[in-house]
Amino acid sequence: MNTFLKLGGVGKQYDENTRVLQGIDLEIRQGESVAIVGPSGCGKSTLLNIIGTLDRPTEGTVFFGDSDLLTLNEKELAEFRNRQIGFVFQLHHLLPQCSILENVLVPSLVNKEAGDAQARALRLLERVGLSERLMHRPGKLSGGERQRVAVVRALINQPRLLLADEPTGSLSREGADSLAELLLELNREENLTLIVVTHSMRVAEKMDRVLSLERGNLKPET
Ligand SMILES: Nc1ncnc2c1ncn2[C@@H]1O[C@H](COP(=O)(O)OP(=O)(O)OP(=O)(O)O)[C@@H](O)[C@H]1O
Ligand SMILES: [Mg+2]
Repeated sequence: MNTFLKLGGVGKQYDENTRVLQGIDLEIRQGESVAIVGPSGCGKSTLLNIIGTLDRPTEGTVFFGDSDLLTLNEKELAEFRNRQIGFVFQLHHLLPQCSILENVLVPSLVNKEAGDAQARALRLLERVGLSERLMHRPGKLSGGERQRVAVVRALINQPRLLLADEPTGSLSREGADSLAELLLELNREENLTLIVVTHSMRVAEKMDRVLSLERGNLKPET
């Protein structure tokens, strides 16, 4: 079977004293759902940023299908991120002056193949319970509501890979469960591959695989 995502010997050293990742080997199949857990500061966001090409490893290789991501130029990387990857950041980075609907449509503006992004936006916002808030600004929403908007924005271009950094962090238990269910439904319906960083074992255990990041290395959580 073709590999979807493959990391080989990925290491990251920020400076002399901060080596965060060392020799990470990771293979993920298309359509898989993977949770990454580990203590604060262990390098989870660093790893997601490297997979999402927002940061470069100090050493190692990152392949997406046949494409060697570390050889792409900035323009190719921007297009790759826009078309293939949905990113839910730990801090959601919504545009304060735009409405909820406008915020989730931003990634579709530069994607000529976005199709009917507005219809998809309305459908997804309804699924996360935000239909009544389309014209609100993010500043009027709770932390959990903003997080759901950020998830919908990440999904708007029908990415093949969703990288989510604590997507349920500021949600109630019920909110976290229903967001995790939404991601898993899209995982089944659209063959969306999921990599979810979470502190919640409850959320992690819904995924096909749980990996634990400890001392710079990934291992299966037992
Ligand atoms: N740009 C940077 N320069 C230097 N050190 C950094 C930088 N970014 C992160 N670090 C350090 O690397 C380590 C890993 O950070 P990272 O954000 O990946 O952790 P994390 O596992 O996501 O933590 P959390 O669960 O708190 O979000 C931390 O010690 C952090 O201080
Ligand atoms: Mg983090």
